Amino acid sequence: MGQKGFSWRSFFACYGKVGDSPSTGGSAAAKRVAKQGSLRRRSSFSDAGNPSPPFSPEDLSLSLVGSNIHSFTMAELGAATQNFSASLLIGEGGFGPVYKGYVDEKLRPGMRAQPVAVKLLDLEGLQGHKEWLAEVIFLGQLRHPHLVKLIGYCCEDEHRLLVYEFMAKGSLENHLFRRFFASLPWKTRLKIAIGAAKGLAFLHEAEKPVIFRDFKASNILLDSDYKAKLSDFGLAKDGPQGEDTHVSTRVMGTQGYAAPEYIMTGHLTTKSDVYSFGVVLLELLSGRRSVDRTRAGREQNLVEWARPWLNDPRKLNRVMDSGLDGQYSVKGAQKAAALAYQCLSHAPKNRPLMKSIVETLEPLLLMDDIPTSTFVYSVVEAADDRMEGDAAKKTQGKDDGQRAQSKENGHRVEATMESGRNQHQHHGSRLRIRQRPKQINYTDTALYRNSPRHNRRRGA
Ligand SMILES: Nc1ncnc2c1ncn2[C@@H]1O[C@H](COP(=O)(O)OP(=O)(O)OP(=O)(O)O)[C@@H](O)[C@H]1O
Ligand SMILES: [Mg+2]
Repeated sequence: MGQKGFSWRSFFACYGKVGDSPSTGGSAAAKRVAKQGSLRRRSSFSDAGNPSPPFSPEDLSLSLVGSNIHSFTMAELGAATQNFSASLLIGEGGFGPVYKGYVDEKLRPGMRAQPVAVKLLDLEGLQGHKEWLAEVIFLGQLRHPHLVKLIGYCCEDEHRLLVYEFMAKGSLENHLFRRFFASLPWKTRLKIAIGAAKGLAFLHEAEKPVIFRDFKASNILLDSDYKAKLSDFGLAKDGPQGEDTHVSTRVMGTQGYAAPEYIMTGHLTTKSDVYSFGVVLLELLSGRRSVDRTRAGREQNLVEWARPWLNDPRKLNRVMDSGLDGQYSVKGAQKAAALAYQCLSHAPKNRPLMKSIVETLEPLLLMDDIPTSTFVYSVVEAADDRMEGDAAKKTQGKDDGQRAQSKENGHRVEATMESGRNQHQHHGSRLRIRQRPKQINYTDTALYRNSPRHNRRRGA
């Protein structure tokens, strides 16, 4: 961790005790907090990151007492996932592999029987512990219908795991960009955009606002009814306090989604999330990835390519996903595109607030000027998982459940502002960690061009 005076051992000794008996509250301090009930205030991640008073490890554990988060053992999570069986692997991102599992009373008395997703920290990851802690602190305390529910965690020896409610339809990224998935209908896309916007609005409007910082299609998970929930709070940050207008941070996020001023200055605001929301909205409209190296020249960067057409109703059809086969409300699409345009403004102050984004999007669901549909069925033979656009959109396939995937797109980046030396780095997979950091300039284009994952995909 490199945090002076902050002992993981003491933190977890305390933390584990409390978490082991969430209902009874093992310690006197736990009982004290249990009594306080809903009067609890959310503890900041920065509080936990700062080892000095007033925040002690005990305070950190206390902040989770009333949240009903379970502390699991490795043996229990092994039992829940058939010993992390490869057949239950449902995905893999920067943090590590994700398995489907099942928990019930047999595992833990009183535990509601339910499927879960178990995320296992890749132990060679550089930022792993900190991201794991951020996830536990934020998701342990924040509850909202559009945030994925954290059921528990495991902290045993060097192992760090997270246990979430299982989201039956996986990530939005899978549905928009992967073969095997049928093209999402227009109203489902709107529903997803609205759900995700509500999640962000909740974070931004909280008593202690939270900046999500890694809003992207792969971090929007979908339940069986396509209700969208935000996941991955590993990079989340407490918003500016008092008179401050921004939070200064290292530049971390994902290429193609991070706001340009944030990349250039390291100044983080809730408007950085609004920009990222604009990128995802554009992905929903166009069915294209924010960065796609398989496309020609200027089409590789979705925002730069689409921006000129977004505010022009006569040219918007150039941007719209052909996988929709014209089955969308033209007026609704124009309004959504104009909204995306605003979110993608270069000047953060011109970007709307998340709550007004929700207000703009919700009425679009009622617009019924959608042409009657003709069912199109086509089979695509190509085996390339990176197949994009038209062909992928028209592929008829399994619309349910999950498939194991390792990450191929959406590159996490990190740059150290303080040092003046700009580092660009993946963390998560072993391959990524071993790559030498690359130099970047703080401009979009330089950032996009220096994508290690892209290089890897091309065999570099
Ligand atoms: N709660 C969950 N329910 C169902 N599937 C999940 C859940 N959490 C994650 N997944 C699956 O695991 C995949 C990997 O998720 P993960 O958050 O680790 O990485 P990512 O978001 O794809 O990439 P990154 O590390 O860059 O954020 C997701 O795309 C999704 O398919
Ligand atoms: Mg994720």
